[in-house]
Amino acid sequence: MIIKFQLFLLPFFCVLFLKAQPNKQFTPGEIWNDNNGKHINAHGGGILYYNGTYYWYGEHKIAGKIGNSAQVGVSCYSSKDLYYWKDESIALKVDEDPASDITKGCTLERPKVIYNAKTKKFVMWFHLELKGKGYYAARSGVAVSDKPEGPFTFQKSFRPNAGYWPVNVQPCHKKTVSPDVKDSYCGGKGCLPAPVDSVNLVGRDFKGGQMARDMNLFVDDDGTAYHIYSSEENSTLHISKLTDDYLSYSGQYFRAFVGRYMEGATLFKRNGKYYIIASDCTGWAPNAARSAVADQIFGNWTELGNPAIGTDSETTFRSQSTYVLQVQGKKDSYIFMGDRWTPDNPIDGRYIWLPITFENDAPKLYWKDAWSLKSDERKREREE
Ligand code: DGJ
Repeated sequence: MIIKFQLFLLPFFCVLFLKAQPNKQFTPGEIWNDNNGKHINAHGGGILYYNGTYYWYGEHKIAGKIGNSAQVGVSCYSSKDLYYWKDESIALKVDEDPASDITKGCTLERPKVIYNAKTKKFVMWFHLELKGKGYYAARSGVAVSDKPEGPFTFQKSFRPNAGYWPVNVQPCHKKTVSPDVKDSYCGGKGCLPAPVDSVNLVGRDFKGGQMARDMNLFVDDDGTAYHIYSSEENSTLHISKLTDDYLSYSGQYFRAFVGRYMEGATLFKRNGKYYIIASDCTGWAPNAARSAVADQIFGNWTELGNPAIGTDSETTFRSQSTYVLQVQGKKDSYIFMGDRWTPDNPIDGRYIWLPITFENDAPKLYWKDAWSLKSDERKREREE
């Protein structure tokens, strides 16, 4: 009788079990719920892999246009499998003190975290714009924590490499800066006279530090960390080597893609080569991505074109790059992470995660309504 009763209950338990199983698929552009059943709130994000766990950091947005400014801080989520994410709450909180650089209402974008094995500190970098000053400050912010999930303590905000010339400085940069070089241009394509070096922005910002907006971090195999960011009024990418403690700039930096207006730059390594996937510079509106390869991080970089293929490739599937994740324990598995921004209601922004396929060593992105690491692995095995 008891056995019969248990058998009767079996389908019920099966349904409960299946419901509790997280969805083992990525569904780009759809609502992506966390462990609390809430859409993940980590925009312009990046991933740290530490001690068997992935940590996803990103901008915590709120509803309405005000959500484009930092009202809360930087979110952190953790995951073992990349599909199912646990909300670890706010890793870095904005400050209520109006005198703080990261006071509530500042613009705090694209946070990324790396772990420093020497100091045993988790180090967060982000793009910071001071409250009420538009996008003119163009600073880097740094925060530190003893634990991956935080709380992170804000350290400083500053402009990169004050008093240092780039490793590939041109004679034109070292000439006296003409007084008509404006303090700030609009930061979009078409605002600067061409060619970019005719206005010598590197020279203009030599003393006070170079501009730093959209940014990413990359740690090389030897533990050297690099900061990549849109500089010179967004016209040119700078790649800067950080100090050993990852808290400052070393003074060594490289100018790449001069006058190409790249934003959302990602930096990653595959088979000994360095890759960049970035966007064009069109505000919140999506555009065609760019990709590039180099044998050395300080150049020379060769552009490889838009990695996105097929319908909607001219808008990178209506997304902008934010990070490229190398999946742990899988052969040749890289994930493109992009944001589908919704600036009128930023909290609703969606995540576009797609597997990267390499064709003749050039990264390619194909749209997928749904995919998994397993299906991607099987596809790569078939192609080998
Ligand atoms: C595009 C950048 O990629 C975003 O991070 C953000 O700064 C918007 N521009 C603001 O318009």
